[in-house]
Amino acid sequence: MTSGRARPAVLVARRVFPDVLAGLQRHFEVEANDTDEVWSPEELRQRLQGKAGALTTGSERISAELLAACPDLRVVANMAVGFNNFDVAACTAQGVLATNTPDVLTETTADFGFALLLATARRLTESEHFLRAGLWNRWSVDMFAGAEVHGSTLGILGMGRIGQGIARRGAHGFGMRVLYHNRSRLSPATEADCRAEWVPKADLLAQADHLVLVLPYSAASHHAIGAAELALMKPTATLVNIARGGIVDDEALAHALRTRQIAAAGLDVFEGEPTVHPELLALSNVVLTPHIASATLPTRRAMAQLAADNLVAFLVEGRALTPINPDVLTRVG
Ligand code: DGY
Repeated sequence: MTSGRARPAVLVARRVFPDVLAGLQRHFEVEANDTDEVWSPEELRQRLQGKAGALTTGSERISAELLAACPDLRVVANMAVGFNNFDVAACTAQGVLATNTPDVLTETTADFGFALLLATARRLTESEHFLRAGLWNRWSVDMFAGAEVHGSTLGILGMGRIGQGIARRGAHGFGMRVLYHNRSRLSPATEADCRAEWVPKADLLAQADHLVLVLPYSAASHHAIGAAELALMKPTATLVNIARGGIVDDEALAHALRTRQIAAAGLDVFEGEPTVHPELLALSNVVLTPHIASATLPTRRAMAQLAADNLVAFLVEGRALTPINPDVLTRVG
């Protein structure tokens, strides 16, 4: 319990678990978003007035303009490993600590990446819709025949912790040959553990039977997969995106799926989500999920708790657990 001085005020921008909120209320004056509606930038700005900290999700954009209009803000704790909703340079310039939630979601998200890969390759949702529509009246030799997963070539673009988790599942669980491309190569020991081989991006695209995208979104990774990259892929290939919308050019992907330039895609993230490109919605060779790769209750709880713990660590103890811009700590420390 913080005592003696006025307690700092914090904003919790989306609904979180009641016990996580109660933990914050032991230290802070808390304004919470009970409706769980996504606030407009203007409403977020208004609610941040007088707040020293904010617990945000990927839906809240922490821009330079917002930071300039919220002079009391000292820390923004994102309940996500990705932080492309933060202008990190502006946070640092204004002395605002930014934190995220790495590690606690790695294995859960890798599980989901593999689930989406399997569902896409083996045409799970397409065949289920067929059955539910009452169209199944006989067994047929090639009905919903999909792509082989075991023994095939798994390509991973972006080889951080989640990419490594997917590589291990592919190599050790499904006997896949694992290729990856990343700006920096893994250490030989980690490559051996993942049984993964670094290749240039063009080779990855050309050789993968299943290509999984796990790279962070930035200006550099915008449309990392567009028409030119899709043209390099096998016509039998599947593409899985669990990273961020904007890494794939959804318009180009819809075209590639419609013209069978690639066989299928599994998408958990979209450009402009929660709006989904109408052509993707109309295609049967794409599995669509609403940004749920980290969504198990234990993992979402761990993410919320870590974000809350970052607020407490910084505002009460002057430290941070998982800082994105640790320079701010040395400046305020
Ligand atoms: C992440 O942690 O970045 C996920 O996408 C959150 O939903």
